[in-house]
Amino acid sequence: MKIDLSNKKVIITGGSTGIGKEVVKLFAENDAKIAIFDVNNTEGIKLTNELNQNGHDIRYWNVDVRDSNQVSGGVLAAEQWLEGVDILINLAGILQGASLEIEDFPDEIWDSVVGINLTGSYLMVKHISSIMKKQKKGVIILTSSGAGVDGSSSSFAYGSSKGGVHGLSMVLMDKLSKYGIRVHDILPGSVDTPLKNSQIEKTRDITGNEAEYKNLKNILVEPKGIAEIILFMCSDNAHLLKGSIRTQ
Ligand SMILES: NC(=O)c1ccc[n+]([C@@H]2O[C@H](COP(=O)([O-])OP(=O)(O)OC[C@H]3O[C@@H](n4cnc5c(N)ncnc54)[C@H](O)[C@@H]3O)[C@@H](O)[C@H]2O)c1
Repeated sequence: MKIDLSNKKVIITGGSTGIGKEVVKLFAENDAKIAIFDVNNTEGIKLTNELNQNGHDIRYWNVDVRDSNQVSGGVLAAEQWLEGVDILINLAGILQGASLEIEDFPDEIWDSVVGINLTGSYLMVKHISSIMKKQKKGVIILTSSGAGVDGSSSSFAYGSSKGGVHGLSMVLMDKLSKYGIRVHDILPGSVDTPLKNSQIEKTRDITGNEAEYKNLKNILVEPKGIAEIILFMCSDNAHLLKGSIRTQ
């Protein structure tokens, strides 16, 4: 089976590092035209320049997904450059507050995590859905987590935000399918990225449990494997796919 993404216009949030970076690279290799939205300008611009030097078609925008004005401005500019938006992959996210007790949980961490992970997902879809509705087609991938649906999160805010993203994606699936828009959420397991490594290191520092840290480090999977699943989910080959996708 050959997956063809040529002429697909794609917005990827959180594309500077981790899973998002691998998605950007893989979609570029498959000839997609890509707008990256992120706040890590150093890594995002470096990736964009490297890919464009190899003949790909990528642009980077500094967009904080928590901020409605930045999201609407970014989407407007990216849509003009892309000449439409076929695919949104929303990977921007943070994990903070790992291994803290509920009574000690800082309210500002709660606000940042819920703001970026959940409100950011809502704002991205809010500003892109009217473009996709007009086109009568589109694919939207939101990023939840096992941590949001099975109670296993190391952080009260992270688990809650990802449960919210899962709920949001289900409502969107129900409400947007009549416009030809296919919505999924992906629930990655434990993936070797800056976000995950920082969480398991913080947990080790709080608990002092080196053996648990080593076990968790050993089971991390490569972000490229998650990018390959997202590539299929976004392709026309997956037009019959429905609902949530869980991975290792
Ligand atoms: N790594 C895992 O084990 C794992 C598991 C389940 C879900 N996830 C989810 O996958 C997604 C990607 O995470 P990752 O593991 O690749 O981590 P990562 O930290 O490498 O990537 C997250 C990206 O989001 C960007 N970002 C952070 N705040 C932002 C903001 N306000 N606006 C725009 N961009 C912002 C970061 O700069 C970074 O490039 C996240 O939503 C994360 O919650 C990761």
